[in-house]
Amino acid sequence: MSIRDEWGTPPELFDKLDDVFHFTLDVCATKENAKCERYYGPEAVHVNDDGKTVTRIGNFVDGLAEPWAPHVCWMNPPYSDPGPWLEKAYGESQRGATVVGPVPNDPSTRWWVNWAMKASQIVWLIGARVQFVSPPGIKASSNTSSSVVLVYWPEAKAKAASRQTKCFWNWKHKPFENRS
Ligand SMILES: C[S@@+](CC[C@H](N)C(=O)[O-])C[C@H]1O[C@@H](n2cnc3c(N)ncnc32)[C@H](O)[C@@H]1O
Repeated sequence: MSIRDEWGTPPELFDKLDDVFHFTLDVCATKENAKCERYYGPEAVHVNDDGKTVTRIGNFVDGLAEPWAPHVCWMNPPYSDPGPWLEKAYGESQRGATVVGPVPNDPSTRWWVNWAMKASQIVWLIGARVQFVSPPGIKASSNTSSSVVLVYWPEAKAKAASRQTKCFWNWKHKPFENRS
């Protein structure tokens, strides 16, 4: 497992979105980086001697196997394989979950075409790259890609909105405006 899979969301991004959505479940986290009191994930991770990989330790609760609805979910998926998380986000939104979170802005990938395109809202983060937070004891490495925040509304709301909205958000300088 790559160390980048453990990158935490910086509070300056999470807090602005939490002000709007009031998250009740972090669907993939550890005890150390969870953004909500309720979370799914390994109890903790151990950084291996190479400094680049981690091992999960403790009681593991698989966020991909657990229900998310009817929570308002925060989802910053493991960087190396976001696809299954976006697929789950879409499925859970059909069952009543709201799911929000950042992913790499990479429309050339299959996971983006298949699942990011199913989000109710795609928000391009402009003006500053998001610098994610490394686990304690690991030197921060920079994020080389831009990010988007995906919003999957629950089915009823999604139907009311009836089509996907796209917008730009100058996230460092402005609060998030909920356009649902
Ligand atoms: C990119 S980090 C995000 C951490 C935190 N939620 C945040 O936003 O700062 C992804 C997290 O998902 C956890 N994770 C990986 N596979 C998981 C799984 N199957 N179920 C739950 N959590 C998982 C990793 O341990 C890691 O902490």
